[in-house]
Amino acid sequence: MHGGSSGIGTMAIQLAARAGARVFTTAGTAAKLDVCRELGAEVGVNYRDEDFVERVREATDGRGVDVVLDNMGGKYLGRNVDALAVGGRLVIIGMQGGTKAELDIAKLLGKRASVHATTLRSRPATGRGGKAEIVAAVRHDVWPDVERGVIRPIVDRRLPMSRAAEAHRVVEASEHIGKVLLLPED
Ligand SMILES: NC(=O)c1ccc[n+]([C@@H]2O[C@H](COP(=O)([O-])OP(=O)(O)OC[C@H]3O[C@@H](n4cnc5c(N)ncnc54)[C@H](OP(=O)(O)O)[C@@H]3O)[C@@H](O)[C@H]2O)c1
Repeated sequence: MHGGSSGIGTMAIQLAARAGARVFTTAGTAAKLDVCRELGAEVGVNYRDEDFVERVREATDGRGVDVVLDNMGGKYLGRNVDALAVGGRLVIIGMQGGTKAELDIAKLLGKRASVHATTLRSRPATGRGGKAEIVAAVRHDVWPDVERGVIRPIVDRRLPMSRAAEAHRVVEASEHIGKVLLLPED
């Protein structure tokens, strides 16, 4: 997965490791990669100076990975498909690297691979595939392990709502690890 030290990434690493997956992740600093390893990632790749496709191939004897969880979108489309194993799935949840890219379809066919995309925001509140269904699944499948402390929400810092601008600055500069929480004030 990409961006392992992000709000999404810190949770995704823990959930994937809990499910028994070998987890490979990218991050932009050595300190962030250390946190990813503490959370359960086996292989950390610094996306600033390493090629994640090469590292994935090395670590899997050339096989590739079964699933890529991607926050980058267009910029990584081709290389994400390169990193997939036969039958692999690329799941795109973000567009930080743009919304457009070219893809050599032959690479997908050769691997019998697929590209998925998903989002929470546009889902209906209720009904099939709605937000309420997802919340219920999280309560059932994840919450017991949060209560037991097996799965930990990673909170970088808590700031009062009046300091929202500072929170935005921290997140935009990617100084955080995990979530930055804005708290309501009395
Ligand atoms: N589809 C959905 O329903 C859904 C829901 C929530 C979030 N998202 C998306 O998921 C992504 C993460 O959200 P978040 O709230 O966790 O954001 P976040 O905490 O701000 O994290 C952004 C992450 O992107 C990483 N990153 C930046 N450039 C990168 C690159 N070239 N290669 C690999 N990673 C790179 C950053 O790594 P460094 O800090 O190490 O530079 C950081 O970990 C966002 O794109 C967001 O839009 C989607």
